[in-house]
Amino acid sequence: MEDALTRAVIRLRAAGCVFAEEEAAILREAAPTEAVLDDLVERRAAGEPLEQVVGHADFCGLRVHLRPGVFVPRVRSALLVRLAVEAAKPGAVLVDLCCGSGALGLAARRSVDVTLHGADLDPVAVDCARDNYRRHGLDPGDVHRGDLYTALPGALRGTVDVLIANVPYVATRHIPFLPAEARDHEPREALDGGADGLDLFRRVAAGAPDWLAPGGLLLSEITEAQEETAVRIVTGNGLTATVLQDDDLDARAIVTRRTHP
Ligand SMILES: C[S@@+](CC[C@H](N)C(=O)[O-])C[C@H]1O[C@@H](n2cnc3c(N)ncnc32)[C@H](O)[C@@H]1O
Repeated sequence: MEDALTRAVIRLRAAGCVFAEEEAAILREAAPTEAVLDDLVERRAAGEPLEQVVGHADFCGLRVHLRPGVFVPRVRSALLVRLAVEAAKPGAVLVDLCCGSGALGLAARRSVDVTLHGADLDPVAVDCARDNYRRHGLDPGDVHRGDLYTALPGALRGTVDVLIANVPYVATRHIPFLPAEARDHEPREALDGGADGLDLFRRVAAGAPDWLAPGGLLLSEITEAQEETAVRIVTGNGLTATVLQDDDLDARAIVTRRTHP
């Protein structure tokens, strides 16, 4: 295996991989044989995200299984998890809309014993999230497939205490400037939020008064450029908005509350 590891480092370096030694070691961990290692190294050298190649990501202390074509949870999304945990009491209903792998909801549930539901439009993401729910002892049937709220069981209407919605929020014109790993290996539907990046957020905010419990929170990532418009969208739907920033995580979140009964 030592020769294969050396080969892996050389191949990854040649492909422009900055952390070739570290990545080669991670790939070796994931590979039961040299042949598999060579194969994983080729995928990585071709630009596939490391997490998709090894089949998992470590997010907020949680191992989340991934598969090709599923959005890789970003470190900055730890802000949404932290806000969800601060807001949720044991027994609260937490919905992870646009859940991808299911990482955010599952990470929040590690800290507080919530009733968790996930939902996504993409069948590959739904399968992946179901797999992660199963691995963490939850019912995979609580991951629903469909377009935003239409995926959710009707019984959840008006009962959601915390709604995490890490929707696609990259403005279409910025997509070409994303790192190739995201552009080429994550589905366009997981990234592209339309002209100003807020198309999905608009729809989520419009539905939030119906789905949130009184006092319930909607938590979404946004960019600095989207802040003013996002606040206008939320207040236009009769909800309150606060924007929070975490410089260490390079993250910004809009916290929306349903105040009326
Ligand atoms: C930015 S990714 C976030 C995934 C996950 N929440 C995370 O942070 O790792 C956005 C997700 O939204 C899903 N999505 C896009 N359009 C959707 C829609 N109309 N309804 C439900 N999910 C949608 C994509 O499939 C993708 O998994």
